[in-house]
Amino acid sequence: RKARSGSRRRRHWERCSCRLTRTDSDVQVLVLPTPDTAALAVAGFLAQTLRRAPDVVLGLPTGRTMIPVYRGLVRLHESGLADFSRATTFNLDEFTGLPPGHPGSFRAYMRQHLFDHVNLPRGAAHFPRSARTKGSAYDRLIERAGGLDMCLVGIGRNGHIGFNEPASALTAETHRVKLKAATRRSNAYLYGDRPEKVPKFAMSMGIGTILRARAVILLALGAAKAEIVRAATTGPVTARVPASLLQTHPN
Ligand code: GLP
Repeated sequence: RKARSGSRRRRHWERCSCRLTRTDSDVQVLVLPTPDTAALAVAGFLAQTLRRAPDVVLGLPTGRTMIPVYRGLVRLHESGLADFSRATTFNLDEFTGLPPGHPGSFRAYMRQHLFDHVNLPRGAAHFPRSARTKGSAYDRLIERAGGLDMCLVGIGRNGHIGFNEPASALTAETHRVKLKAATRRSNAYLYGDRPEKVPKFAMSMGIGTILRARAVILLALGAAKAEIVRAATTGPVTARVPASLLQTHPN
């Protein structure tokens, strides 16, 4: 069944002049011709998921990569094709030590790019920072919501997902992280391009939290991410490239 649907999908993507390949693991790599088509493909897929399972529980990331995805989702919502009224969301990560409503927070980012423009009910969006949802309590909150049906992730140029930085060992549960200088630099866009203003610590879903999702989609845009995507999808599974752990996920 898998092989048949695989070849159907290949035929479809061939018509779209895209490339779908399967690595030695269960990871499927879909290469689309432009950043916009890739972002819109993900937005369309999420909208379809919302239509099939309106009470879906989503894991959501931030980052510049996701801005066109959320823009696409907002447009689909405006066209009546993405209804968030029964959805629940859990963001992957959030900086610590920021006052509530700080414009550099991921909560502010999510409001700006998605939440203020769709019908997600108040209280249905969760972040791993508020006092009530510290650390592994966040994982229990996710479990009580039924677990993540789908987790969308971006990738840092050093292979991080969420804020799980390259290390000798990774943490399974939601935890506090000290951010690498490179990661603070890549988040400087939220702080007027001043890396020194980016908080030094954050809370992040752990690798186990992400891997427990029933499906995981990683989106990377642009040539600068090509090398790390190759390493993550076809290289060794190692804590030095946290995204490579996704090779152990069946979906
Ligand atoms: C941050 C986020 C990650 C995101 C990464 C990539 O560090 N915590 O979730 O994947 O940035 O960001 P960008 O999409 O801007 O390259």
